[in-house]
Parts: sequence; C-alpha cells; structure tokens
Amino acid sequence: MYQDPVIAASAELVAAARETNIHIDPPRMTAQEKEDLLKTYHPDYREDQFEVLRVGPSKGQKVPRELAALLQGRSRISPSMDLRKADYETDVLVIGGGGAGASAAIEAHQAGAKVMVVTKLRMGDANTMMAEGGIQAADKPGDSPAQHFLDAYGGGHFAAQKDLLAKLVTEAPEAIQWLSNLGVEFDKAPDGTMITTHGGGTSRKRMHAAKDYSGAEIMRTLRDEVINRGIPVIDFTSAVELLLDESGRCAGAVLMNMETRELLIARAKTVVLATGGAGRLHYQGFPTSNHYGATADGLVLGYRAGARLLYPDTLQYHPTGAAFPAQIFGALVTEKVRSVGAMLINAKGQAFMNPLETRDVSAAAIIRECSDRGNGVKTPAGYAVWLDTPMIERKHGPGTIEKRIPAMMRMFGKYGIDIRKEPILVYPTLHYQNGGLKISVDGQSDVENLFVAGEAVGGIHGRNRLMGNSLLDIIVFGRSAGRHAAAKAAGVTPGRAALSHVEAFHAALDQAGVDTGVVSPKLLPTYNSLGKDF
Ligand code: FUM
Repeated sequence: MYQDPVIAASAELVAAARETNIHIDPPRMTAQEKEDLLKTYHPDYREDQFEVLRVGPSKGQKVPRELAALLQGRSRISPSMDLRKADYETDVLVIGGGGAGASAAIEAHQAGAKVMVVTKLRMGDANTMMAEGGIQAADKPGDSPAQHFLDAYGGGHFAAQKDLLAKLVTEAPEAIQWLSNLGVEFDKAPDGTMITTHGGGTSRKRMHAAKDYSGAEIMRTLRDEVINRGIPVIDFTSAVELLLDESGRCAGAVLMNMETRELLIARAKTVVLATGGAGRLHYQGFPTSNHYGATADGLVLGYRAGARLLYPDTLQYHPTGAAFPAQIFGALVTEKVRSVGAMLINAKGQAFMNPLETRDVSAAAIIRECSDRGNGVKTPAGYAVWLDTPMIERKHGPGTIEKRIPAMMRMFGKYGIDIRKEPILVYPTLHYQNGGLKISVDGQSDVENLFVAGEAVGGIHGRNRLMGNSLLDIIVFGRSAGRHAAAKAAGVTPGRAALSHVEAFHAALDQAGVDTGVVSPKLLPTYNSLGKDF
C-alpha cells in the first residue's frame, strides 16, 4: 500500500479505471505526431545541454556538455612516461569485461590468438549484467532478418549505418544459437520452442528472454566460458590511455590498477575496446539504469587516439525507470512489463498512450504528461506516471508475473509494493548511448588495429535503439571484433609504442584555448559530497 495520500489516491483511480483501460488499445502516433513530440519533449532536443567539440577528430560535432568536458579533458598520465618495459604482452588486448568484451575474448581465443581481458571492476560488472527484457532475433516462421532490419531502421529514424544494421539482424539467429549452445537458459515452451514476445517498435514477436534477467543469464554464461578457456582476466584495472606505434596503429594501452593506482603497460598487436556506456555521467541530471562503471571511458580513449564519433548527441532515456521508492530511483523497469500487458496510465487513471511505441517516443510522451499536461503523479523526487502491472495477471491469469517478470516483483516487493496488486510509478531514466565510436563492418575504428564493440560503438542503431538489439549487438559485434582482431594480430609486427598522440592532443587543446579543467577518462562517477573525482 502506498502511504503518501496523493500517491494512494491516484493509485485508487488507476484501480477503478482498470477494467475500462484493459479494453482500450490506444492508437499509435503518426509520424508527424512523433516528430512534434520528440522535438518538444525529448532531452536530446534541449540545445542548451549540448556543446560543440572544438578539438579532435570530430571537431564541430555536438555532444552532451558532460561528455564534451571529458573528450576535451587532459590525460591522467604524462605523455613522456617510460614505456620501455611491458608488464603484459599479448596478441589481442580486450578492454572491458562485459558482454561485448567477453564475446570478443572468446572468439579471439577460439581463433588461436593469445588474448587477455582487462576490466575496471570485475568481469561481468557491466550493463550487460543489468539488461533485463531480452534479445531480438528473427528466427521464427513469419519473421525474417529483413523484417527485423525494417523495424530497427525505422525505429532508429533511418540513421543506422546500413551495413552494420544488416550484419546485426542477419547474424542474430546464429547469435541465439551460439548462446544457447554455450548454456544460456532461454525461456521455452513445454515443446522446447523458444518463447518470444514483442518489444516497442517490433512488428513480430522476436524477443528471446531469460525471464526478466536475460542479461545476467547471458553474462553468467559468457563469464563461465572465458574462465573455462583459461583466458587471463585482470580485474580492477582500467585503461587510461591507448598506445600507438610510429605508424599510428594501436599497439596496446596504459593501464591503472584501481586499488594501488600503479600504472602498467600492456603491449598488444590489436586492441578491442569494449568499455560500455555513459549512464553514470547523468546527462541533464537524469538518474540512470546503468552500471557503476559506465563513464564513457572508451569514447575518451578512442577519441584521443584519433577515432571519430558517430551520433554522440543521441541518448536513450528508457521510458520506465523506477520513480518510487527512492532506494531504486532510476533502476530499470523492463520494457517486458509492457510487452506482457501493463499499460502506461496517468495520475487521473487515463491510458494516455500506446505502451509499445519506440523508446524515445514513449519517454517524450511521459515527460509531456508530467510537465505541460500536468497529469503526472507527484512523488518525493518529482513527477511520474503509473505502469499498471496488475493488468498483466488480469489479462493472462494468476502466476504470470512471478513466472515472466520475477526480478521486477522482487525489486518492488523489497519495499512493500506487490506489483501483482498495485501499479508502480515510473519516469524516464538514462539508459543507453545510441552514439559512440565509428566502426567499419569488421569492427575497426578509424585507428588501425583498434577495434570497438558493444555500447562504445555508434551507428548500429541510428538515433534510437529498439529493446533487445543491444544484447544482440554485444554478441554479434563482440564476436566479430574478436575474430577480426585475432586475424589482424596474426600479421602485425609490433612497432615502438608511444603516447605522442596524447602530447599532440594536449597541444591542440592549448592551441584552441580549451581548458575544461578535468582529467579523463573519468573511471568512476562522482557521488561524494566534495564532488571530487576518483
Ligand atoms: O527494457 C529492457 O528490458 C531493456 C532492454 C534493452 O535496453 O534492450
């Protein structure tokens, strides 16, 4: 039961309207309605929250203010540091221990390369682990990769790099098979066929899930595979700069032990950057569904080394972050809750939109409901709308919630909210960076021998990503980057590793008169009362 009288009164309106709302199928918005909505309410359109880069390979590009400060920040290390003695030497260095990094490491190892993984926290401490709703693949009759392509291309505002998106959807069925063979326990019907559902913007039911902890199940399996193969993993060690040889090819990284701050040199023939997202930069003050380590490190390292960015001005605000209670503020309430039947309801008990619009549209519609329309529910942190979870069992029968979204039930249950009986309060939360480093279809960035995979990549999804295409891209592009990095490494004769690109970047900052006053990469978010960075 909600104790706050305003919240409780609104929850009663939702309960009273449930029988009516359950029979409503709110219409989808027209293209024009969506465009108008996004321009007025989506945070990506708030011009004052962005800044144009003045230095580096994407000079002239607009990025969030917080990211601009880091991209145009100064290195944590001196470019003149002694690089003669290597602490590690390998063929393929994978930076990042999430799903993309693990997939890359497995495939590079499978290809016969000597591979090692370095990760800022521990293997699996990543956004992959926190992904809930599922992974898309067109592997059922009546669906096809071409249909998957059309859904994702339209959902991404026709901005996706077509070759990257084509690879994503074409290799999706095989990715599911690979995961399944490795041991991922996807939800299955009694006859053994995989259960698939819709996500926002999908025209077919192609979301494969492991209840509502799909990412944890996938990460568990990938981590086991990395360990079983004996691939070395260096935990609590972050990359603080990339190394380039005299021809400008990536040749390893300078690492930092997160406990002792000791600097270490890793020499490599090729590098896979798989450092994940940026939610912990809390753009525009939004809460985030992201992992603690999501501070855009890969974008900073790649950018300073000369790799261009693509769409760094487009972020994904997941429409349904938990808005109450405070202990889980910003945590992900999976889209699966809507795909199994819950509707979005405003403070007056009205179903104000179709629950399966694409994410950017849904987030903007919720922000509009809570701002100009004045139909939000007042919470201690601001305003929110309802996600009417009791509808799920009203539609599909008792036991559905425990069976299909048990993690949601437990997350709210800890705070005395039984989502089978009471609706929950939601508001957009910073979830994903749609943009990132530009890659070719083999995963290589603008810097030779530097491959990028996972959320650090930009362009696969265009300017908005559909649910379930991120767990998919970490597998498809992670595996591919690992294979290509291993193949490339076989032909590399190591040169002399240096940090002259860092020196040149500092000089360019000086010349442009840019001093953001920060050192980067950030590595960890700033939450202490002094606002002091790690
Ligand atoms: O809503 C979700 O479960 C999130 C999935 C995703 O970002 O793909």
